[in-house]
Amino acid sequence: MIKIPVSTPSRSYEVLIGSGLISRAGECLQGELQGRKAVIVTAAPVRKRWGKLLAKSLQSAAITVDLLEMPDGETAKRLSTLETLAEKLLKLGADRDSVLIALGGGVIGDVTGFLASIYMRGIDVVQVPTTVVAQVDAAIGGKTGVDLVTGKNLLGTFHQPNAVLVDPDVLETLPPREYRAGLYESLKCGVIGDPLLFGLFEERSREILDRDPEVVEKIIADSVKLKASVVSADEREGGLRQVLNFGHTIGHALEAETKYTQLLHGEAVAWGMVAATRIALASGTLDTVTAVRITNAVMNLHKLPRMKFNAANIVKRLRSDKKTRHGIVHFVLPREIGKVEIASDVPEPIVRSAVDEIQKLSR
Ligand SMILES: NC(=O)c1ccc[n+]([C@@H]2O[C@H](COP(=O)([O-])OP(=O)(O)OC[C@H]3O[C@@H](n4cnc5c(N)ncnc54)[C@H](O)[C@@H]3O)[C@@H](O)[C@H]2O)c1
Ligand SMILES: [Zn+2]
Repeated sequence: MIKIPVSTPSRSYEVLIGSGLISRAGECLQGELQGRKAVIVTAAPVRKRWGKLLAKSLQSAAITVDLLEMPDGETAKRLSTLETLAEKLLKLGADRDSVLIALGGGVIGDVTGFLASIYMRGIDVVQVPTTVVAQVDAAIGGKTGVDLVTGKNLLGTFHQPNAVLVDPDVLETLPPREYRAGLYESLKCGVIGDPLLFGLFEERSREILDRDPEVVEKIIADSVKLKASVVSADEREGGLRQVLNFGHTIGHALEAETKYTQLLHGEAVAWGMVAATRIALASGTLDTVTAVRITNAVMNLHKLPRMKFNAANIVKRLRSDKKTRHGIVHFVLPREIGKVEIASDVPEPIVRSAVDEIQKLSR
């Protein structure tokens, strides 16, 4: 088992990573949960495959467990879901000492984390992520939230978990497209801060796509290390944490412009990384060889889905992105493999030509 520490001003905890960890959850969490009521929050696709295993493991360590199911998917990431779950928690007798266990992808993690942060003014939460996106990204760092009709993640809190349990075995049952989409977030970690992780994507992409257990555990652990170190240095996105948004500025605009129907988040980030790489090249801050390496690592992993969008609208959306500070669009641009910088002065024609470029590539 690999243990990766996360240390923030509000809480220090460990991310535990290991094959078969779900069936050892009781033993791992015994110290933390004994004598307390634990409530697993999950959705049907995950409960059916992994719910029983987790509940049994906790019960065998004499932990009292209940299970709450919420609807699946991004459409369930709403404030109304929190209210329904909170009413159910009360009926189960959950109190200030109870602990929520988020078993699922980023949606479950974000909703459960948010609920834990406000239920009875805040209770503990343990994250047990079951998608690649959640294992390498969403479950670590304490960002929680739900969507509004007008935009994603507009309501939320920072609420660090007490522990994160990552069992790569659960990815066996993840649909292939969801699996691949999550890989781009891991590849992102390589570009922003870990040349060796980036190298694994260049050299072992076949094994990664085939879900080879040894290499999958390695890329997850390396990504978690990167995210843990960034979050430990900057819990609330004061500066450094922004580097995690590599590929996300244009990625978010693409997702919104295509109405969240054509691309999964990771796929949008993949296109966003290609676009940001073009911007860096055109700005003269990145050399051609490195630009080609990054673009190839993204494009060669797997064929990205086609998308139809209006390039001018993407540029317009960027101007109103919520990460825009004082009306300036911030881009995270690669400088070399493992190093990025924040640019706030990219001329719009350069942005537009990068967007045109990914539009051509995506036809
Ligand atoms: N808090 C953060 O820092 C952070 C970071 C990144 C993303 N997010 C959020 O995460 C969400 C996306 O998360 P996601 O990509 O995990 O999507 P998701 O949670 O919707 O999961 C995708 C699908 O896979 C299913 N699933 C999950 N695990 C499975 C498994 N092991 N086997 C079979 N099916 C499984 C889910 O039920 C769902 O249908 C977005 O709402 C995003 O905003 C948050
Ligand atoms: Zn992301």
